[in-house]
Amino acid sequence: CLTPALLPLYDIENSIVVVIDIFRATSSICYGIENGADAIIPVSHVEECAAYQVSGCLLAAERDGKVVEGFDFGNSPFSYVAEKVQGKTIVLTTTNGTHAIQLSRSAKQILIGSFFNLTALADYLASTSQNVLLVCAGWKNKFNLEDTIFAGAMVNKLRPAAYTPDDSSIAAEDLYLLAKDDLRGYLKKTSHSERLMKLGIEADISFCLNTDITTAIPVLDGDKLIKLK
Ligand code: MLT
Repeated sequence: CLTPALLPLYDIENSIVVVIDIFRATSSICYGIENGADAIIPVSHVEECAAYQVSGCLLAAERDGKVVEGFDFGNSPFSYVAEKVQGKTIVLTTTNGTHAIQLSRSAKQILIGSFFNLTALADYLASTSQNVLLVCAGWKNKFNLEDTIFAGAMVNKLRPAAYTPDDSSIAAEDLYLLAKDDLRGYLKKTSHSERLMKLGIEADISFCLNTDITTAIPVLDGDKLIKLK
C-alpha cells in the first residue's frame, strides 16, 4: 500500500517513511549528504541544536525561513555544498522538516526524499515489498502543495511497481500531473514560495525543483541521517 500522509501519521510502525519537505529541509539534507557530509542530526528544537555547540559539529537552525541568529547557517541548499559540508556532521533544526522526521521515529525505516533524489529513491522503494508512507511535512501542521506534488511524483514513478495507491496517493498524483510541465510556475502560488520570495531567496525555490541531480538516499540511523549503503 502507498499513502501520502499529513500529520498525524498512521500505520507508521508497519511502513517505510519517506519524509518530504521540498522547500527546503529535505532538499538541503539530500544535497548535503550527496555532497559528502558525514551525517546530519535532525533535532526539533533550537535549544537542542545549540546544545551541540562544543561538539565540533556545524550547527544549522532555521525558523520561519530565516537563519536563527548565532548559528552557522540555516536551511538553504546553497549552504550544503561540498566546500562547506564535506566530512562534517551538521546538527539541523527547521520549522517543519526536522519535526516531521522526529514524529516518524517509530517507522520501520526513515528515508529522506526530494526532487533531487526522486529516481534513486523510487528505484529503492520499488525494490522493497514494504508499505510506504510519504510523510508531507507541510507548514505548521497544514497541508502544502509542494510536498504533496512531490508525493504525487513518487506515486507516479512507483506506478509500474506492485504498489496499491490509496485515494490520497491518487489525489497527489493528479496534482502532480497538473503541475509537472511547469513545476516552477505552478508552485509560485504556494504560501511558502511567497514567504521565501519576501525574504529574497527565490533562487532556493527554483533550485529545490531540480529533479534527479543526486543519487544519495539519506536514512536515519540512530539519531543521524547518513547515506543509505
Ligand atoms: C521547514 O522545515 O519548515 C522548511 O524547510 C522551512 C524553510 O527553511 O524554508
